[in-house]
Amino acid sequence: MNIQFTYLPGDGIGPEVGAAALFVLETVSDVFAHSLQIEAQLIGGAAIDAGEKPLPDATFESCQRTGAILLGAVGGPKWDHLTGADRPELGSLLPLRKRLNLYANIRPCKPYDGLLDRAPLKRDRLEGTDFVVMRELTGGIYFGAKGRDAGGAYDECRYSEAEVERIAIKAFDLAMQRRRKVTSVDKSNVLETSRLWRETVEQVSRRYPEVTLEHLLVDAMTMHMLTRPTDFDVVLTENMFGDILTDEASVLCGSMGVIPSASLSDGTIGLFEPIHGSAPDIAGQGKANPIAMILSAAWMLRLSFGLEAEASAIEAAVAGALDASEVTGDLGGALTTAEVGRAVAQRVRNAA
Ligand code: NAD
Ligand code: IPM
Ligand code: MN
Repeated sequence: MNIQFTYLPGDGIGPEVGAAALFVLETVSDVFAHSLQIEAQLIGGAAIDAGEKPLPDATFESCQRTGAILLGAVGGPKWDHLTGADRPELGSLLPLRKRLNLYANIRPCKPYDGLLDRAPLKRDRLEGTDFVVMRELTGGIYFGAKGRDAGGAYDECRYSEAEVERIAIKAFDLAMQRRRKVTSVDKSNVLETSRLWRETVEQVSRRYPEVTLEHLLVDAMTMHMLTRPTDFDVVLTENMFGDILTDEASVLCGSMGVIPSASLSDGTIGLFEPIHGSAPDIAGQGKANPIAMILSAAWMLRLSFGLEAEASAIEAAVAGALDASEVTGDLGGALTTAEVGRAVAQRVRNAA
């Protein structure tokens, strides 16, 4: 098969973890006799530095055409003085997600066995943790009117019933393939959008009698996630809460550098990216953990190309590398970003 995708390394550690993931993909396509057609494009600060818009037309066109996108990260201190849509975050990543209608962002939290003793939480709390966060990605406060007025600033948060309904359906459908439990997280004691969220999720849940539905307020959820992480199966939440809760979930998994994500729509387009950012504090030093990016590439093979065996081969190789402590400093190891990429690739080759 010809694996054609758009590669957006972006900023900071994006190109470093990206290079490791490409190395693994090259090995996989060699071992499984595929060809790779990589369309590298500019995005974020890298695009701005090249004199382009944060999301150049050629980049968007490539994403739309290939329908499979592997992205590193955007943003960093160099572009923090910029405002509004001139910023890498607001001018590239958000419009990319919005224009491709990628409203369903899936972020898994399943600590690898090899990491149970490396995570900040105790092994007995973590063992058996296996949940997925279904984060709404194209609505809410990120996309409402924002601006300044006399003496202040505002960010409007809006959700339509249709937006809540479609992400709830994704969550319940996923729960039907898993342990049949949905935990919906909101702030319905305060926010009107959360009251709509809760009502709509209740309505959708009536179509899924086999699925147990639990509602939690987001403040309490930050605590429950750490004290009883094994109780969750599918965690359904809105855009900003999902952003915050998944960084917290990374603590259960040992590092920000191990959680991949898929952003999907109703069609076939998929955007695959680690949940972490450009990590300016470690960029350019070979310290970044490439596992989240490598797992994002595996998800792209599975979900955009239907290459299940290839995706599983990468995931097994990652598990093997973690078991053997072939890891970067964030997980207590001594390997560089590129060395982890090579270790995972070697394991893919050895297993073939
Ligand atoms: P961050 O996720 O970049 O980093 C948070 C902390 O986690 C840092 O200490 C960093 O060193 C560490 N970390 C992150 N990824 C790691 C990895 N792969 N290996 C080892 N350690 C890792 O968040 P931040 O520092 O708050 O944000 C930095 C920039 O990234 C900001 O401009 C932000 O807007 C942007 N950002 C972009 C994305 C994205 O493109 N999807 C996501 C989050 C943040
Ligand atoms: C993420 C990031 C982005 C988000 C930022 C960079 C816009 O934090 O993907 O988690 O908040 O969605
Ligand atoms: Mn985030």
